[in-house]
Amino acid sequence: MRISVIGTGYVGLVSGVCLAEIGHQAICVDVDQAKVDQINRGVPPIYENGLAPLLEKNIQSGMITATTDLENAILNTELSLVAVGTPFDGDSIDLSYIRAVCRQIGAVLKRKKDYHTVVIKSTVVPGTTDQVVVPELETASSKKAGIDFGVGMNPEFLREGEAVGDFMNPDRIVLGAIDETSLQRLEKLYAPFSEVDKIRTNTRTAEMIKYTANSLLATMISFSNEIANLCSALGGIDVVDVLKGVHLDRRLSPLLENGERIVPALTTYLEAGCGFGGSCFPKDVKALIAHGKQTGLPMQLLQAVIEINERQPDRIIGLIRKHFPSLEGIRVAVLGLAFKPGTDDMRESPAIPVVTRLLIEKAAVKAYDPVALNEARKLFGTKDIIYCDQLDDALENAQVIVILTRWSDFQDIPRHLQDLPSAPLVIDGRRMLEKSKITNYEGIGL
Ligand SMILES: NC(=O)c1ccc[n+]([C@@H]2O[C@H](COP(=O)([O-])OP(=O)(O)OC[C@H]3O[C@@H](n4cnc5c(N)ncnc54)[C@H](O)[C@@H]3O)[C@@H](O)[C@H]2O)c1
Repeated sequence: MRISVIGTGYVGLVSGVCLAEIGHQAICVDVDQAKVDQINRGVPPIYENGLAPLLEKNIQSGMITATTDLENAILNTELSLVAVGTPFDGDSIDLSYIRAVCRQIGAVLKRKKDYHTVVIKSTVVPGTTDQVVVPELETASSKKAGIDFGVGMNPEFLREGEAVGDFMNPDRIVLGAIDETSLQRLEKLYAPFSEVDKIRTNTRTAEMIKYTANSLLATMISFSNEIANLCSALGGIDVVDVLKGVHLDRRLSPLLENGERIVPALTTYLEAGCGFGGSCFPKDVKALIAHGKQTGLPMQLLQAVIEINERQPDRIIGLIRKHFPSLEGIRVAVLGLAFKPGTDDMRESPAIPVVTRLLIEKAAVKAYDPVALNEARKLFGTKDIIYCDQLDDALENAQVIVILTRWSDFQDIPRHLQDLPSAPLVIDGRRMLEKSKITNYEGIGL
């Protein structure tokens, strides 16, 4: 199929590249000329495992191109995936990018003779496709949705850090559409994934599935952190043992007849830590809460999920203070800045409030992350933090080591510490280290 992807961020670029890889001819559109140029040179503007070689290959073969020319992209394709940002503006979901794109597409549809399908891939609150996308497209095109052009909703479930793998090996595909032609086109788009479970539904249900999935995972994390904080307050209990005991319930980790266990990835959301971040969980849960409120249904459970999460980074500072009541001049190595391993994305990362607080309290901060240092420099500047390219440089002379991202390299920290002249305090914000291997150990939920 000839497709266009509007917005070449994490979702748009990964979708475009992967759809090109499975045989579609993709045109990626972005307003950001620098991004477009970079993509056309075969270099992804974001770090994502496996993306660079796949992009390079498909640029070279001509299966994917990037442009700022939306009109040309719409006129030369039969289906457009819209993957622009949908931030939370503090009160509700900000649909201004979606609206702007729909108006631009609508203006082109006014002149386009062939039937075109517009599919929303961005995460949008239930009702958006019906109540915002369709009216914007109809007004701008002076045409009727479902008759003159088609509309669909196809939420994306890829995880940053695993985005290419998730897209190429999906666990489900949700196809929402208002018209039969668009549903058929979506079926064709994903035809190579013939073995994957597909849900065919209306656009509102498709939208709601995405929010429900993210809200469940965020709830599991805040649940684990609330239990962790109680374990700490009670004393004599380690939340790692508690949650392990919970994971072993055969309803969570099924026991096979041969005695082996299936350990589902879901249990990784039932672990204590310094909280969730990223571009999706915080904003999606807040957007759903706001949407519920507007509908007259306060979302009390999800409100608590956010409140617990926002307080969790303070726990890290609290653990340092137990040992250093004043942080002024204390040499702190912050390990891990990305909101999770496998990505350089720092959006809503717990590292932001932790580092900010350390700087306010005048700690001497060194920071290390295998891939997110450039993002961190943009965010915190270069004046107050020493950025280290090597883990050992960050550890040198540190009085406190704070682990904020579960990068697998950090498993090796006990070995690195053996080489240091004195034993620093280690604050394990992800409970990923064996506490018995570290002399001065503190962790969430201990
Ligand atoms: N990041 C994820 O892991 C993830 C996962 C699933 C769903 N989502 C959802 O997908 C959507 C996109 O997220 P993202 O992280 O890829 O966003 P992003 O901010 O990384 O990318 C958005 C892109 O859209 C471009 N853009 C904005 N206005 C445009 C316009 N008028 N025309 C063309 N391009 C335009 C921007 O320049 C930017 O490159 C959001 O709704 C998000 O919630 C994200």
